[in-house]
Amino acid sequence: MKRLLLAFAGTWVVSAASVTLIERQTNNSASSNSSSPAPGAQSEQTSPPFYPSPWIDSTTVGWQDAIAEAQAFVKQLTLLEKVNLTTGVGWEGEACVGNVGAIPRLGFPSLCMQDSPLGIRNTDYNSAFPAGGTVAASWDRGVWYQRGNDMGSEFRDKGIDVQLGPVVGPLGRSPEGGRNWEGFSPDPVLSGIAVAQTVKGIQAAGVVACTKHYIGNEQERFRQQPEAQGYGFDINEALSSNIDDITLHELYLWPFADAVRAGTGSIMCSYNQVNNSYGCQNSYLLNGILKGELGFQGFVMSDWQAQHAGVATSLAGLDMSMPGDTVFNTGVSYWGANLTRAVLNGTIPEWRIDDMATRIMAAYYLVGRDKVSVPTNFQTWNRATFGLFHVQPNASDAYGLINQHVDVRAEHGRNIRDHAAKSTVLLKNVDGTLPLTGKEKFTGVFGEDADVSSWGPNGSPDRGSDNGTLAMGWGSGTAEFPYLVGPLTAIQNEVASHYGVIQSVTNNWAYGQIAKVAGQATVSIVFVNADSGEGYISVDGNEGDRKNLTLWRNGDTLIQNVTRRSNNTIVVIHSVGPVLIDAWYNNPNITAILWAGLPGEQSGNSIADILYGRINPGGKLPFTLAKTAQDYGTGLLREPNNGKGAPQDNFVEGNFIDYRRFDKEGIEPIYEFGYGLSYTSFAYSNLQITPHAFTPYVPTTGETGPAPVLGTYSNNTADYEFPANFTKVGLYIYPYLNSSTVFENDSPEVPLGSTDGSPQSKIPAGGAPGGNPALYDVLFTVSATIANTGRITGEEVAQLYVSLGGPSDPLRVLRGFDRLSIAAGGSTTFSVDLTRRDLSNWDPVSQNWVITRYHKNVYVGASSRNLPLNGTLTFSGSGYGGQ
Ligand code: NOJ
Repeated sequence: MKRLLLAFAGTWVVSAASVTLIERQTNNSASSNSSSPAPGAQSEQTSPPFYPSPWIDSTTVGWQDAIAEAQAFVKQLTLLEKVNLTTGVGWEGEACVGNVGAIPRLGFPSLCMQDSPLGIRNTDYNSAFPAGGTVAASWDRGVWYQRGNDMGSEFRDKGIDVQLGPVVGPLGRSPEGGRNWEGFSPDPVLSGIAVAQTVKGIQAAGVVACTKHYIGNEQERFRQQPEAQGYGFDINEALSSNIDDITLHELYLWPFADAVRAGTGSIMCSYNQVNNSYGCQNSYLLNGILKGELGFQGFVMSDWQAQHAGVATSLAGLDMSMPGDTVFNTGVSYWGANLTRAVLNGTIPEWRIDDMATRIMAAYYLVGRDKVSVPTNFQTWNRATFGLFHVQPNASDAYGLINQHVDVRAEHGRNIRDHAAKSTVLLKNVDGTLPLTGKEKFTGVFGEDADVSSWGPNGSPDRGSDNGTLAMGWGSGTAEFPYLVGPLTAIQNEVASHYGVIQSVTNNWAYGQIAKVAGQATVSIVFVNADSGEGYISVDGNEGDRKNLTLWRNGDTLIQNVTRRSNNTIVVIHSVGPVLIDAWYNNPNITAILWAGLPGEQSGNSIADILYGRINPGGKLPFTLAKTAQDYGTGLLREPNNGKGAPQDNFVEGNFIDYRRFDKEGIEPIYEFGYGLSYTSFAYSNLQITPHAFTPYVPTTGETGPAPVLGTYSNNTADYEFPANFTKVGLYIYPYLNSSTVFENDSPEVPLGSTDGSPQSKIPAGGAPGGNPALYDVLFTVSATIANTGRITGEEVAQLYVSLGGPSDPLRVLRGFDRLSIAAGGSTTFSVDLTRRDLSNWDPVSQNWVITRYHKNVYVGASSRNLPLNGTLTFSGSGYGGQ
């Protein structure tokens, strides 16, 4: 049965000719009324108000048609229908992990939101793609776009409107963070380019991307109060990530800006608080930064149960409530009927509900869902062909075809294999140990991680265990495997095709057997792993986040046991992120090391392609591999530190996470960010810096138009009551009212300015999706020659870092890269356009980006610490340089 609505129906100038570059002010506060030394954030930091919620701008380039169509659509809707579009029907109310209400009068179906960032969760005949944090290691724009597009086409063909991904929050502040692998990299530029390409790929397939989790969602522990209680923590509120203004802009917001610029139709607000205001009602972050400064025209969706208020969330910029009920299966909503009521009694202005609905529909039209949408043909809650349409409690009335088992995979497995191989990082390769030939005399394969779990690849719900080879983490960021090619199978196929000898021991505690086989092997391949996931599942005491950075399942001992007997040992790591390798990486019996991340369904084939040289490794580390966990300096907040109040997670390190910290503190990593070897070698030469003429940076000025009001609504209370003879479904959330006393404004106290629909001043750092368009002006082009000095074709990820030069700046920050295929003996040109944004710092006083007066240098090379080329960016004109 479908939901029924039958009856209702700063002043700074930079130019080539005249340059005035100023110094960034030192006041580094998140709000205008508090200050702290730069960089850093303080306990009990607050978030300033920002109202009214910016309304959609119909002149936005790229969005004009979509907005016009959305406005035309919304104009026809009744208030109840608008409310229906914004409010989820409640947990387990429809087929998808989240659905909003349908508009049957217009034949408009219930919009379907479905996990995950690496493939479709909770269905069948879908692909299991490599995780985000794995494909980050490809540093390959083509891989990111294609993976997004392949995923998008699968979501489209299952009848899903919104893919709940990609992820750039967590960014990866702490290596132990449970969900880092769902995102890309702790570097904002690598993440930003990866997320933009993924969004474009997904949306080109006709599905809305939902970039998440906005923002500061850097750890699982304390992310939700009830979950924390379940783990025995007596706290009343979720954790507050306290982030200063500079760090927000230069680090955590950066990839979200790229996602917005790429046109992401949706953004999911996060569970945690930021500066002591919940992610889904933080007006500063949603209204001010996301919709204001970043010019986001799509809709903000809450994470599941991340909404904690009704009127306040709408006025603060939330557009869609997921899954719609306050707490799963309560039948009660902050919105639904309450939203209808709040609009009718004037607490929420009509323009605001219109804007919420318009934003949802604009995203829908932007990606062309009106042209490609098919009815949802699966159900999240049940794999059987026939079953209940609604599995909410008390909703057992309708039964029928719920899963059509549509195979949506096309031949994506081919790309999955290729992408995972391209994302594999070769860390060590002594004397050309790799590639192997397949004709080795005796191949030994070791480790649980070499083979598929005896429970099968989908043996644990949401992959909540570490059994067998690790190809994705756990939680909502998962998909069911259609198959999982284990490494042992692929290696065995290789060896058997040459009629060679291969023996394996896949029990990490079978010490005797391990010793025996390792003693015979001429080459030993050891598979080890480390897992993590989302906070609602705990695996071996890892409550989402990792307890530590060590290998799981006795991995270190396994390596030790093999290397004791075998002097030609290759170690392959499947992990969610950094692991500790210091105990063994330089053991002379370890002749090669590969990091293969979380490769998805083709795991074994991908690693075999690398091991046997069909693909020359070109991946580079998207994070640092350190000697100790302490070296990262950014551990998780593990104990409540504010009594029963919100734990205060102060991001005191500011911008200095991952390699930026190692550079700052002079800590030597084992393998640095950006590091990775090839079976060939490359040489860098001929750095050239070409300045471009550019116009001065012009802060955006002027005013918006007034808030559009679309259509009218009836004042007749009878129009808002449940229709006669209406059959309610379970604990479904409806927009109808139970009472007619709604026209009294019984809660008049709303934040100052929040209901004002008159023209508003534009934000100087804003002006277009992604921020002020002048931020993307190209100021310099930097190029270099990269030569392949070896004997085989290879792919090199050339990298460009910039030193912004200020006393509180990181030594160097990544600003450009390209993965280049170069034939043996050949060479190619690596070229990066440096934009104004790339060379700017955030100035919290002027609330805008500035190019500071400090010397700016560029560095080009093969990793963050192997930078053979460097040069200085010379801005012509006065005021720059030398001071
Ligand atoms: C909570 C997770 O944080 C989010 O990423 C996911 O999309 C929703 N649950 C829905 O499963």
